[in-house]
Amino acid sequence: MIVTIDGVAASGKSSVSSGVARALGVPYVSSGLLYRAAALLALEAGAALEDEAAVLVLLEGSGLRLEPLAEGNRVWAGGRELTPDLHSTRVDKGVSAVASLPGVRAWVDAQLRALPQPFVAEGRDMGTNVFPHAQAKFYLTASPRVRAERRARERPEDIPAIEAALTKRDEADRRQISPAVDALVIDTGPLDLQGVIEVILSALPE
Ligand code: ADP
Ligand code: CDP
Repeated sequence: MIVTIDGVAASGKSSVSSGVARALGVPYVSSGLLYRAAALLALEAGAALEDEAAVLVLLEGSGLRLEPLAEGNRVWAGGRELTPDLHSTRVDKGVSAVASLPGVRAWVDAQLRALPQPFVAEGRDMGTNVFPHAQAKFYLTASPRVRAERRARERPEDIPAIEAALTKRDEADRRQISPAVDALVIDTGPLDLQGVIEVILSALPE
């Protein structure tokens, strides 16, 4: 069984996926971390974020690997753990450009499809492109202000700066990704984390 949880930036995808995965006793798969890792490798190498050939060489040569665990995903480049470096403001800013490269998307999709199932997969196009035959699909939303307030607890910037950056990234991502028509859309604004997890668990097929 595959459950997909897509949604806009900071809508709660990874926290909710982790809770749903733990309740089901399966891992969750955070696809965004692979795009973030691709952006980090490009930034560290001084490659242009639009240079598909250069980014693909970095991906192929780095031994990049996603370790999906129910309590939190980790990303490795060979023996180096990248996870703590993937949520910086510079990666936030650069990631949509790298994620718009078709070759990078194909590379990430292949990594995800090779993972042992079952799992909960979260990102932007899990229910549309990567796992269109998933048994249950969800799409999380919340207003930009609510999402910025939540993310402000994790980032050094103030709420208006975070809200502006989130809105810009939503716009960049919207050009390449749209929600699955068969996904249940959940506005997480009025709910707490446990509330969103319960809505999803109660909507799962037997
Ligand atoms: P995403 O994976 O979509 O970027 P996260 O899971 O990282 O989102 O959530 C962003 C922040 O918002 C986290 O600190 C998380 O604990 C918090 N959060 C997520 N969903 C809710 C919710 N429904 N109510 C309150 N806080 C939430
Ligand atoms: O947690 P947040 O929503 O802020 O970001 P994320 O899920 O880690 O995704 C980071 C970026 O990766 C997004 O802004 C997209 O540009 C890209 N992404 C994507 O294109 N497709 C996915 N399935 C997941 C992420």
